[in-house]
Amino acid sequence: MDQRPIGVFDSGLGGLTALRELRKLLPGEDLIYFGDTGRVPYGGRSRETILRYARQDVAFLRSFDLKAIVVACGTVSANALQELKGENDLPIFGVVGPAAAAAVKATRNKKVGLIGTAASIRSGAYEEEMGRIDPTVRVTALACPLFVPLVENGRFRPGDRVVELVVEEYLAPMKESGVDTLVLGCTHYPLLSQVIGNFMGPGVRLIDSGASCADRAGEWLGERGMLAERAAGACRYFVSDSTQDFARLASIFLGETVTGTVERVEIEKY
Ligand code: DGL
Repeated sequence: MDQRPIGVFDSGLGGLTALRELRKLLPGEDLIYFGDTGRVPYGGRSRETILRYARQDVAFLRSFDLKAIVVACGTVSANALQELKGENDLPIFGVVGPAAAAAVKATRNKKVGLIGTAASIRSGAYEEEMGRIDPTVRVTALACPLFVPLVENGRFRPGDRVVELVVEEYLAPMKESGVDTLVLGCTHYPLLSQVIGNFMGPGVRLIDSGASCADRAGEWLGERGMLAERAAGACRYFVSDSTQDFARLASIFLGETVTGTVERVEIEKY
C-alpha cells in the first residue's frame, strides 16, 4: 500500500480527460494535477521547448512527495518521455506506449490510424512503439491542429456543423486508407470521439490514449502493491495562468463539476 498521491500533468486542461479515467479506475487515489495553462498549446512547438517545459512541469510536481507521475499530454509523451524517465527516480507513465499497445491488440487488418498534434506526429514515437510490438502493422499518421482550439471553445458535439466539417476534411484520407483502428493521440480528442466515430463508421475502433495510460498505471502500481487504500481520494489542481475560468473549462474535460482546490503556480521558477 502507498498512500502518496499520483501527479498528473498536461500542457493545459485537456489532460483532465486522463485524470477522469484515473479517477474512474482508481477512486481511492489522491491526485495532484498541473495544467500549464499559461503556455498551452505545446503541440506546435519545437522538441527543445517541449522538453524544457516538461522538465519544469515535472520539477513542480516533484515539490510534492509523489509515488508516480502520469504524463497525460500526448505531445510531451511523444517528445520528452525518455528524458523525463532518465532524469527522475520515480515511475513516470506516458500515453504513447499504452495507446500503441492497445491499438496493435485491437487491429484486425493491421492498418492503424493515428491523429495528434503536429509535434506528436512529427516525433514518430507512436509508429516506433507499434513497430516494436508488431512490425507488420502499417500506420497512417495525421496532424489535426484545428481539433484542440475547437474543443477548447466547446465545439465538439455531434450536430455541430463546423466540427463535423473539420473532422470530415481531416479524416477523409484516413477513412480512405482503410484503417480499422484509430489512436486518439491527444488529450482533447476523446471529446470528439462521437463525431469522429460517426464519420469513420462502426468498423473503426477508437483508442483513447489517456484511458490506455490510466489502465497501464493502475496495473503497474497494483502489481507492486502500491495502490492507496482509502474509499475516496481527493484532487488538487494547479495551473500556470489565471484560476478564474478554471472550473468552467475543466468541467468540459472532466465531464462533471470540479471539486477540489485550484491554485496558481509560477512555473518559470521551476
Ligand atoms: N495536451 C496536448 C496533447 O495531448 C494538446 C494541446 C497542446 O497542443 O498543448 O498533445
